[in-house]
Amino acid sequence: MKLKKMIISVLALCMAVQLLCACSDQSAVVSEKLHIGVTYYNQSDTFLNGLLESFREQLGELEKEGLEVTVTIRDAAGSQRTQNDQVKDLIDAGCTLLCVNLVDRADPSEIIDLARDNDVPIIFFNREPVAEDLMQWEKLYYVGAYAEQAGIMQGELAAEAILSDDSIDRNKDGKIQYVILEGEAGHQDAIIRTENAVEALRNNGVELEKLSYQIANWNRAQAQNRMEQMVSQFHDEIELVLANNDDMALGAIDAYKKLNDMENASPVFFGIDGTDVGLQAVLDSDMRGTVYNDKEGQAEAMVRLAAAIATGEGMQEIDFEKERCIYLSHWKITRENVEDYIKDGGDGTGE
Ligand code: GAL
Ligand code: CA
Repeated sequence: MKLKKMIISVLALCMAVQLLCACSDQSAVVSEKLHIGVTYYNQSDTFLNGLLESFREQLGELEKEGLEVTVTIRDAAGSQRTQNDQVKDLIDAGCTLLCVNLVDRADPSEIIDLARDNDVPIIFFNREPVAEDLMQWEKLYYVGAYAEQAGIMQGELAAEAILSDDSIDRNKDGKIQYVILEGEAGHQDAIIRTENAVEALRNNGVELEKLSYQIANWNRAQAQNRMEQMVSQFHDEIELVLANNDDMALGAIDAYKKLNDMENASPVFFGIDGTDVGLQAVLDSDMRGTVYNDKEGQAEAMVRLAAAIATGEGMQEIDFEKERCIYLSHWKITRENVEDYIKDGGDGTGE
């Protein structure tokens, strides 16, 4: 009896060891199929639609390299609860990798738990989770851009314009009366961009007077509405509008166009993103400048990372910061160089 028991346990042990070997073997084996589940905070966002379009295009390139890729994209429509459910559904549908643009960047715990329980890695993008959350599991990554740099560049562009053009200080008081259109409360790109733009203006010797700021959630129509309110309050006092993104700068321009006052009482406008409509506004001289938010570069980084996660190859070549984050750089765009970006799709090479 004792012998029988021993034989059974030895057999069980052998099976367990075999199983373990099979598992670790598998992680080394190239997985030829990649099923990516994407969920993003809101489908009305111009920049993110552009980013995802580029992501899809570049995934097509992976197929040429022999990886079989399927991608499912979901719109969370501004609800974190909806997004949590989508993540669950995407995992149930067999996704092997998730790309998540969080609705609430401070609330990723449920998503992280779901992913970890099912061993499905996540590439967060554009809306950066706080560092502690990203440290919860080693298969969590982030792809985005240097928020600080976008703000500094916007401030520098505005300073260059102001210092070289006396007419911007319309009331000739030696100060620039300005308003800010902010993205969302609590969003890293909103807070950091605003702070750094204002600081860069000051560092470049521009005297400022802040008249007001309004939150317009990255949205053109909301920005138009907020701008109309500010104009009715400050009339022609506003000399500079700093918007956290192009869509909001365009909304502000819409407000002035509606007032039919682009000529006399119009401030100068600066955006960030370099979306197609944003670039067009720079070309038309409606917007004085913008900062290119490299959606193609971010999409490429996501694709490369996805491929590396799927195949287990190429991870070493990726330039990570803070262990598992990738940040892309921005470029300044004015009337002088905007045509290069419109022509070349924005890779900055001017080719
Ligand atoms: C920013 C971008 C905005 C908006 C936002 C959404 O990086 O500049 O236009 O897309 O992300 O999180
Ligand atoms: Ca002034």
